[in-house]
Amino acid sequence: MTMEIPFSELLEQLPKQFFASLVAKVGEKIKAGCDVINLGQGNPDQPTPKHIVEAMQRAAANPKYHKYSPFQGYFFLKEAIAAFYAREYGVTIDPAREVAILFGGKAGLVELPLCLVNPGDVVLVPDPGYPDYWSGIALARARMEMMPLVAENGFLPDYEAIPAAVADRAKLMFLNYPNNPTGATATKEFFAETVAFAAKHGIAVVHDFAYGAIGFDGRKPVSFLEVDGAKDVGVEIYTFSKTYNMAGWRVAFAVGNERIIRALELLQDHLYVSLFGAIQEAAAAALLGPQDCVAELVALYEARRNTFIHALRDIGWEVQAPSGSFFAWLPLPKGISSAEFADMLLERAHVAVAPGIGFGEHGEGYVRVGLLTDEARLREAAERIGRLGLFEKNF
Ligand SMILES: Cc1ncc(COP(=O)(O)O)c(C=O)c1O
Repeated sequence: MTMEIPFSELLEQLPKQFFASLVAKVGEKIKAGCDVINLGQGNPDQPTPKHIVEAMQRAAANPKYHKYSPFQGYFFLKEAIAAFYAREYGVTIDPAREVAILFGGKAGLVELPLCLVNPGDVVLVPDPGYPDYWSGIALARARMEMMPLVAENGFLPDYEAIPAAVADRAKLMFLNYPNNPTGATATKEFFAETVAFAAKHGIAVVHDFAYGAIGFDGRKPVSFLEVDGAKDVGVEIYTFSKTYNMAGWRVAFAVGNERIIRALELLQDHLYVSLFGAIQEAAAAALLGPQDCVAELVALYEARRNTFIHALRDIGWEVQAPSGSFFAWLPLPKGISSAEFADMLLERAHVAVAPGIGFGEHGEGYVRVGLLTDEARLREAAERIGRLGLFEKNF
């Protein structure tokens, strides 16, 4: 007889993966031979630039990297990160004390609540938002308070709407601009407001800058650390996944507040030895090498955005163009839920999108589309949706 091995209470209370059923449905359709245009996920479709792959290939042969890496990562990568922040944002970072190397942004985002909050503490979370924030909060047995992101506020949280009692209990806050899923970007003024709010209530800020490189119409997204006082209250998480199409490589970093960096490194000392040295060398090559690949990538996403948004407007769907990230956030006709709408598009148009409810209650009424396929397929997706006759044509 096999023994029934129970999972820990901690595992049992982890949030359910909302998108798992959608991924399964898409898989079934594809298996049944349907030509599905999958715009539901956030996996960059372009390869890592050649010079970065070549740096990795050379470094992989170096016996130095076949040993354990230093626990907190190679200092040359921390120095490259500091040089990158100075060059890109005019921000001074002390590579010895203000940088932690991460196994991807997701790892850092999940580790941070474990580093900074106790069971029952309050964490402020954007709604809609990236679901991995919820995972770390659940592991830390903390409590989430949602900050609604609504179109009327440009998808920025309204700090004045947060009751003082909640703000005073909050220990940590997650922000993310350019934003997944809304495609909104933040201003320096908003970040300055964030620093003031956080300092007043004693809240540590984590700014997830995963889409930091991807701003449209000639506007470079602002780093949280560009604002005075930001380092006193928080850190920024930067990943190589999107800027350099290195999602599979699992490399990212946290920069900013020395105490928070220290906490991350302390937790990581207990969880792992640092990344394969060759990946760290390639990551440094990405930050210090030619950046034309980044400009080209942003131009590619911007061209896709323009094509897709125009094609949707052509079928009568009134949508706003995102100002950053590689997502479009599309409002739905009244009377249909985002899950029903996504199911219908998959069934009847063979187009997969992510229902907004999967990103939180305030995501209801929207679906998220990833601009991660070529312009012809994006145009075709819009045409297929148009054939369903769901939208009045506005001339
Ligand atoms: C908002 C946001 N943050 C963080 C990440 C994590 O990126 P990674 O773990 O690949 O660094 C993603 C990836 O999709 C994301 O969308």
